[in-house]
Amino acid sequence: MGLQITHTPDFVMKWFLFFVLAIGLGLCSSTANSVSGYNYYRLPTALKPQKYYLRILTLLENPEELRFTGTVKIVIEALENTRNITLHSKNLTIDESKITLRKISEDGNKDNCVTSTSINPIHDFYILNTCEELLAGNVYKLSVPFSADLSRQLIGYYRSSYKDPETNVTRWLSATQFEPASARKAFPCFDEPAYKASFVVTLGYHKKFTGLSNMPVKETKPHESLTDYIWSHFEESVPMSTYLVAYSVNDFVNKPSTLPNGALFRTWARPNAIDQCDFAAEFGPKVLQYYEQFFGIKFPLPKIDQMAVPDFSAGAMENWGLVKYRESTLLFSKTHSSLADKQDLANVIAHELAHQWFGNLVTMKWWTDLWLNEGFATYVASLGVEDIHPEWNTKDRGSLTTMMATFRLDSLVTSHPISRPIKMVTEIEESFDAISYQKGSSVLRMMHLFMGEDAFRSGLKSYLQLYAYKNAEQDNLWESLTEAAHKNGALPKNYEIKTIMDSWTLQTGYPIVNVTRDYKTGTAKLGQERYLRNTEISRAQCVGCWWIPLSYTTQNEKDFSNTAPKAWMECSRSGESIPKTIQDLPGPDQWVIFNNQLSTPYKVNYDAQNWKLLIQTLNSEEFQSIHVINRAQLIDDVLYLAWTGEQDYETALQVTDYLQRERDLLPWTSAFNNLKLLNRILRQTPNFGFFKRYMKKLFTPIYEHLNGINDTFSSIQHQDQILLKTMVVEWACQYQVSDCVPRAQSYFSRWRSEPNPDENNPIPINFRSSVYCAAIKYGTDEDWDFLWSRYKNSNVGTEKQVILGTLGCSREVWILQRYLERAFNPKGGIRKQDSSLSFQAVASREVGVLLAKKYLIDNVDLIHKYYYPQTRSMSRFFSQLSEQVITKSDLNGFRAFVNNSRQYLKGLSQTIQQSLEIMLTNVQWMERNYHQFSRSIQQHL
Ligand SMILES: *[C@@H]1O[C@H](CO)[C@@H](O)[C@H](O)[C@H]1NC(C)=O
Ligand SMILES: *[C@@H]1O[C@H](CO)[C@@H](O)[C@H](O)[C@H]1NC(C)=O
Ligand SMILES: *[C@@H]1O[C@H](CO)[C@@H](O)[C@H](O)[C@H]1NC(C)=O
Ligand SMILES: *[C@@H]1O[C@H](CO)[C@@H](O)[C@H](O)[C@H]1NC(C)=O
Ligand SMILES: *[C@@H]1O[C@H](CO)[C@@H](O)[C@H](O)[C@H]1NC(C)=O
Ligand SMILES: [Zn+2]
Repeated sequence: MGLQITHTPDFVMKWFLFFVLAIGLGLCSSTANSVSGYNYYRLPTALKPQKYYLRILTLLENPEELRFTGTVKIVIEALENTRNITLHSKNLTIDESKITLRKISEDGNKDNCVTSTSINPIHDFYILNTCEELLAGNVYKLSVPFSADLSRQLIGYYRSSYKDPETNVTRWLSATQFEPASARKAFPCFDEPAYKASFVVTLGYHKKFTGLSNMPVKETKPHESLTDYIWSHFEESVPMSTYLVAYSVNDFVNKPSTLPNGALFRTWARPNAIDQCDFAAEFGPKVLQYYEQFFGIKFPLPKIDQMAVPDFSAGAMENWGLVKYRESTLLFSKTHSSLADKQDLANVIAHELAHQWFGNLVTMKWWTDLWLNEGFATYVASLGVEDIHPEWNTKDRGSLTTMMATFRLDSLVTSHPISRPIKMVTEIEESFDAISYQKGSSVLRMMHLFMGEDAFRSGLKSYLQLYAYKNAEQDNLWESLTEAAHKNGALPKNYEIKTIMDSWTLQTGYPIVNVTRDYKTGTAKLGQERYLRNTEISRAQCVGCWWIPLSYTTQNEKDFSNTAPKAWMECSRSGESIPKTIQDLPGPDQWVIFNNQLSTPYKVNYDAQNWKLLIQTLNSEEFQSIHVINRAQLIDDVLYLAWTGEQDYETALQVTDYLQRERDLLPWTSAFNNLKLLNRILRQTPNFGFFKRYMKKLFTPIYEHLNGINDTFSSIQHQDQILLKTMVVEWACQYQVSDCVPRAQSYFSRWRSEPNPDENNPIPINFRSSVYCAAIKYGTDEDWDFLWSRYKNSNVGTEKQVILGTLGCSREVWILQRYLERAFNPKGGIRKQDSSLSFQAVASREVGVLLAKKYLIDNVDLIHKYYYPQTRSMSRFFSQLSEQVITKSDLNGFRAFVNNSRQYLKGLSQTIQQSLEIMLTNVQWMERNYHQFSRSIQQHL
């Protein structure tokens, strides 16, 4: 599934439904139900589906009755004798009198039947007890009719709508979102990823609509009784998992792409947004072709559609041949979307199309290995985007941001391993997090870099070929890669990929490596232990050992391009770290840096002398002799070390001081990412003034260098610098650097005086977020209302997101309160998919955070009801608030709230544990570092 990316506040993943006990099939018309005894979370293995004939009639004519009715015929092979057929089904109405069951064989079909049914609401099982035993080796055909309302939630088979701008009429459409476990809400099925089968889909609908599914339409026929209704018969699919099935009935239009001798490629949107499809229609086919060549396997379907759905819970979903997106992750407007928006779209499209191989062609056996899907799609997407837009330099930036996200979440005791046991649907949803996506991607990149290009690619290719149309586990991947690595001489013969990679995927956390040099002998001693941000936990308690490929370079050599390991840190059989000594290092006037280009997820601490040498180089003309990613690494590492007290802030500030010279995007990205955390703590303290002055001192040179908020974009050569300028201006306005705020306000007032502000916006696109925020923060009630009207009238998803993110910049309590209430009022004008953006926009700011916290505590029942059953959306609220709780009493207050609200917070326990730990680390920071930091920073003003 796709990332959902927002600029303010953060990167976030996706969330999903929430597990509901007891409701479900209780609403079905069947009466004979009793609760069954089989209580294992997986389906019994006696049966295997081969093919589904899925026929669904969708009724979109009457807004009061948006429904679907259908029949699924499943061809089932019996692997063992059994007296029941256990399927998944959830909240579907099933007329049991119409269920049929037959044995299929060459000498004619033979009727069997169903005596009774029962349900298991905990695991969504629907159990049909058969009249006669099903016998191993035989094939049966089960037919089950079903119906339901098109869901009002954004999962299963659901409704979405948009307003026709010409007539003000609401247009309805239907869409699916099945991953991980909601196909069962749309039709009865064996809803586990390993039950791959082919699908023959037939959709019925009014002829004014278009029907889309995974495969192309084979033929269309009139409906036998409903006038003006038709049946569209789609071609049979390749074998695939249920979570990848997709369909939609809509009145959209498409933009076809021309893909030389390839699949038919179309991009779909509501008619009024079709002009925003150009970028996706051009980029999509290019990246698809890149993957065909990268994986050496052709895209196997005859067509692929990408579709912008007005209401969509995830960022996007990789359904085979019918990829669905939010509008803001597929549609690009030349006049309203920024360069960052464009890069984000490209990244999401590249991610979903990478899944067509990693995920769709080869699928994880069970959700434990979800990271194989998501880590790969995330990593490979960065290669795809880099190939098509090398001028964006997304590969390095992507590596750095995924690494930083990994470091952050995985520094918590409450993090989890990449590969983790899954026993409940809610646990699957909790796996769609930075560990599966970002850490997964980081360890794959690590492997790519230590194995080298040829071995990595040939191993991947043989894995994909071996398991095409099947399912695999991580061990299967390790086998293919070990074989390729040994064949290519890319790994010592006595090393196995599995040994190395298990230390990264089965253990929580990542190591910090201590490098202690002996300047007389030219050696260095290396030790490793797990890095933990939480200093109440003794690290000795959290033993762990990682196989670490060691690359390094010296001040003489400065060869950062070589990321192949010069040595390895190994683990003993009993899992203990074996200390390592490195020889032939230079003299006491030369630094060493480990982990060239941050190729492996570990942090490094050096002895004082080595830090001193590094600081000297950073604060000199020579600073660019350190690779740009390693400059970002040094900033990130030293600020982490200072946080936990392993370095003092004096050293850390000597490192960050050099930023006054820095003109590259990546070190600044690293700096902003870390300084943001300090900012959120310090702005609540009396010493914030010092921090503010220090920040102004750091930013002023880069702000001036980039001509500040003046529109000089047309003269910028490197796209990196556009993003840097965007980012610097955002911070500069926050800290009132130079002319940032007054100029932002004058841009905004120019916009306000436009006769047609929805058509004409004179604010440079890349500054809009900063300008809106400054204008709202220092502006009037009318400024807020003006921006709100633009939100209401906007036809562009990315623009709407920017506005929602900045409406929270106000410092007026009543305005923020009204905004929060609108966000959770179904008639408030904000789509459910976007409410959490509004909440976060308020919660991330200094006045808003207090209101947002109170709003959540006072209204947790209503918010729960608003999202139910997809209450996982609430997880984002907690992570946002957690960074700003800094006192023990607030932390205790939050704990009490969480305890008292358990019934509303089910399925959020992982997020809540992590949020409480982040709050605790803030409290620890205040106790340990606040005074020392305040003293040190005054020396640097
Ligand atoms: C259905 O059949 C399977 C396989 O024979 C068995 O393990 C399971 O317990 C049965 N389920 C019920 C509810 O009896
Ligand atoms: C179950 O279906 C009924 C009728 O189709 C619907 O009213 C209800 O909201 C659904 N419940 C859930 C939890 O989706
Ligand atoms: C559409 O609705 C808006 C606000 O409700 C109204 O101002 C506008 O005149 C309506 N347009 C048409 C064509 O009915
Ligand atoms: C690393 O250095 C820190 C601080 O000097 C020390 O507390 C820790 O024990 C060292 N760890 C290892 C594994 O050498
Ligand atoms: C922006 O442009 C104005 C007018 O040309 C100039 O006075 C100002 O110094 C510029 N600001 C920056 C930060 O370059
Ligand atoms: Zn994905």
